Amino acid sequence: MATCFAWLLAGAAWAQDPAVVLRFSHVVAPDTPKGLAALRFKSLVQLRSQGRIRVDVYPNSTLYGDREEMEAIQLGAVDMLAPSLSKFGRIGFPEFEIFSLPYLFDDQAAIHRITQGPIGQRLLEGLTRLRLVGLGYLDNGFKQMSAHKPLREPEDFVGLSMRVQPSRVLAAQMRALGAHPVSLAFRETRLALAKGVVDGTENPVSNFWTQGMNQVQSDLTLTHHGYVGYAVVVHQRFWEHLALNDRALIRSALNDALAYGAQIAQTQNDQALAALRQAGTTRIHSINAAQRARLKAAVQPAYAELRAAIGGDLLDAAVQAAQSPLVAY
Ligand code: LMR
Repeated sequence: MATCFAWLLAGAAWAQDPAVVLRFSHVVAPDTPKGLAALRFKSLVQLRSQGRIRVDVYPNSTLYGDREEMEAIQLGAVDMLAPSLSKFGRIGFPEFEIFSLPYLFDDQAAIHRITQGPIGQRLLEGLTRLRLVGLGYLDNGFKQMSAHKPLREPEDFVGLSMRVQPSRVLAAQMRALGAHPVSLAFRETRLALAKGVVDGTENPVSNFWTQGMNQVQSDLTLTHHGYVGYAVVVHQRFWEHLALNDRALIRSALNDALAYGAQIAQTQNDQALAALRQAGTTRIHSINAAQRARLKAAVQPAYAELRAAIGGDLLDAAVQAAQSPLVAY
């Protein structure tokens, strides 16, 4: 008992003066898959290092928003990020935009055939091009469309101004539907919807709900058309300054936190949808198989856009892997 108490005291002492502080910034609410996985990572690192490493998590754009976070990590002003895979094209890594492709993935298993297979590993390794170390992938879930009317058919989108992440694929997706894509930082989205700067947007329900978008969007259509997931990255400079045992500890804790995130992601989105239904603020619409087929056909130009950016080899391998296992790239 005394030993345990001494350890707790030691841990508390370390927490005051840790050997390493890891600053982890992200842009979503704490009660989302990414927010919860970040907190799980924090607790695992601090426990396993006995407080020698402290993780400071800054959720909901409280430290940096979309635009600033990518600059901040390059400048060493933050140590770890988990940006949406759709946001890497803007900083010179369009390969992650395969995850932005609409109607490519039917479920989380299809996503994992890439993120947990050779293609995903090769892509993480490619981040060295940006002097980033790609440590792993984190799930959120499938996006649903929202606006002030149901969005079940391609013609329903014509003329709408739709917020997207800074992604050429998502912009091409909206243009293919006859909508006008508007790239905004995540933290600016709710206000832009409230003020009518944009008519609608696309989100996993966990983001839609935790940002209060239900108060400024009258209709959510369960299109299940695209995926939001994340790559967890640190800067090479930060990583190279860590002792090898600390790198191993951080990697191990992150792997466990990412597995936890994958386990809870669907539940978090389901719970957000249930809360949304309970709130009664937003009409929730479904689409049938024929409507899904028409939407999928309408957004095919997004694939051409990405093929032009990353070439056919990776794109074709990703499409194959999304539909069947064991495809090497
Ligand atoms: C968005 O900008 O819509 C998302 O990438 C936010 C997030 O990190 O889930």
